[in-house]
Amino acid sequence: MNNNVRPESLERITTLEQANDFIAEQIGELRRQIGDGKVLLALSGGVDSSVVAALLIKAVGKQLTCVHVNHGLLRKGEPEQVIEVFRNQMDANLIYVDAVDRFLDKLAGVSDPEQKRKIIGKEFIDVFAEEAEKLDGIRFLGQGTIYPDILESEGVKSHHNVGGLPEGLQFELVEPVKFLYKDEVRVVGKALGLPDNMVYRQPFPGPGLGVRCVGAITRDRLEAVRESDAILREEFAANGLEGKVWQYFTIVPDFRSTGIKDGKRTFEWFVVIRAVNSIDATAATIEEIPYPLLHKITDRILAEVPGVNRVLYDLSPKPVSTIEWE
Ligand code: XMP
Repeated sequence: MNNNVRPESLERITTLEQANDFIAEQIGELRRQIGDGKVLLALSGGVDSSVVAALLIKAVGKQLTCVHVNHGLLRKGEPEQVIEVFRNQMDANLIYVDAVDRFLDKLAGVSDPEQKRKIIGKEFIDVFAEEAEKLDGIRFLGQGTIYPDILESEGVKSHHNVGGLPEGLQFELVEPVKFLYKDEVRVVGKALGLPDNMVYRQPFPGPGLGVRCVGAITRDRLEAVRESDAILREEFAANGLEGKVWQYFTIVPDFRSTGIKDGKRTFEWFVVIRAVNSIDATAATIEEIPYPLLHKITDRILAEVPGVNRVLYDLSPKPVSTIEWE
């Protein structure tokens, strides 16, 4: 039997009741699989790994150790939320790794997008493996694989799924949501009591803000991406666009232009706003943001984000453009 085919007995999960049945069943399954063994999980804070963490916490509690790697390319507030939800509220074993300097040092001066992705992916695995090596007696590795990952590639997801661990660090996989589609994972997350902004979160690339700080990443531009993204998300939430627009974010290219501030000429970065609708990311259309809201977001970014003197709105659909800028 191919154990990568969704079982026919698994009904489509659309209601909280169905999600609760799934959760009860998975808790039994996980306890059977794991026994009194120890499990390790790379917890990014994305919906898939968060749901797997919450399921494992319910099933095996402190036998689970979560590792949250902060690579410096997460959105504003994300590492804090992971700590708050999983360590403080759910009482999980959570190792928080501040790897910001390490990632940014490795990325310094690297402008090729694929090279950046490779460095982020490799560094992530190295950091995770180092943490795993410090722990004794781990037998299982939790993974947030979902069904589309299996359908697309028979398995390997972005760097968050730690497929390339070194020899000697091989674990038995625990993949409780591997037969679920994204919308089903969200319903299960909701039933598990995870916060809405974690459950209904927009797609976020594995290399994070790194691909939105176009060109070689510098700390000042990275902060400009993070701060402008936070303003955009805040304004979208306040104006009923959160959960309605498929993906929205800001980009700060490695390019400066002239501006004027307090009567003095400036030569600073610009922020690009991108807001797109899509079904599966293969094509995307532009969200028609109301002009008054665009003005408000622009004014706030210009007033609040250091080093920025210009804001643009990207009207390019996919194709011809891609959703991300690199
Ligand atoms: P593009 O830019 O190719 O993006 O139109 C399509 C979708 O994929 C996301 N994306 C990534 N996700 N690792 C990821 O996990 C990546 O390297 C990556 N690059 C793009 C992008 O955010 C969009 O949702």
